[in-house]
Amino acid sequence: MSRFVLVTGAGKGLGYAVARRHLEAGDRVFALEYQLTDSLLSLQKDFSALTIRKCDLSSTGEVSEALQDLAASRASIDILYNIAGIFFESDRVPLEETDIDRCLLLYNVNSLGPLRVMKYALPFLKQGSVVMNVTSEAGSVGDCTRKGEYGYSMSKAACNMASKTFSNQMQGRGIRVFCYHPGWMKTDMGGEGARLSPDAITAGQAAAAVMDIAVRPEQIPENVMYLDYTKSPLNW
Ligand SMILES: NC(=O)c1ccc[n+]([C@@H]2O[C@H](COP(=O)([O-])OP(=O)(O)OC[C@H]3O[C@@H](n4cnc5c(N)ncnc54)[C@H](OP(=O)(O)O)[C@@H]3O)[C@@H](O)[C@H]2O)c1
Repeated sequence: MSRFVLVTGAGKGLGYAVARRHLEAGDRVFALEYQLTDSLLSLQKDFSALTIRKCDLSSTGEVSEALQDLAASRASIDILYNIAGIFFESDRVPLEETDIDRCLLLYNVNSLGPLRVMKYALPFLKQGSVVMNVTSEAGSVGDCTRKGEYGYSMSKAACNMASKTFSNQMQGRGIRVFCYHPGWMKTDMGGEGARLSPDAITAGQAAAAVMDIAVRPEQIPENVMYLDYTKSPLNW
């Protein structure tokens, strides 16, 4: 049966790979993207089941407006993937060199972005819907060994909290919410290090892994919400 899937960050990296795989599986995809990429536009030529909306997740007005289009289509969402995110290589520095204002930008996109999408997608969620928030192992307080990347790690921990709170709110409605670490990926965000490393996975591999959980959430025990691409639970 064809699913209706919402994907943020669908222009490249993991978001693009997830959108593409769902389209290939015969699903309908509602894609939110910041700047329209050629690859996403060319995907639209191949798949009429792809709808694209340009939307900056740091703007409440733009997210609200983009999701209003769903009301017109009377769609209900089977899977909501919050994948869009930002990271700055130059933030791998100690506190003395940390740009605090950039932490605000990271919080706005990585934490409040998914929260905005959940808020405005809420009317379209139903029993059986899955919300897959791609955060990171960087959001784990318990396992943190970093001595820098303050803004990114804090923004991902905040998104974990938003997800847990939303999951509590959804209790009894049959809606599963996950926080997911996709692995170190050979994407623009993964950077040169990931591209050259045998330890990093491709966006296609990462997409297959996250989709496996999103389409069959029942394989993950009810008490597991924060997990990685090997399906291993992570410490909050
Ligand atoms: N890469 C890794 O190794 C890794 C590891 C752990 C977790 N993650 C997480 O996995 C997710 C996907 O990562 P990726 O490697 O696929 O990243 P990516 O290749 O850099 O793609 C990120 C996507 O997010 C979009 N985006 C950025 N700012 C946005 C905004 N304000 N509004 C709407 N969309 C925006 C980008 O759009 P534009 O291109 O138009 O800016 C792009 O499509 C992220 O949440 C990331 O934090 C990645």
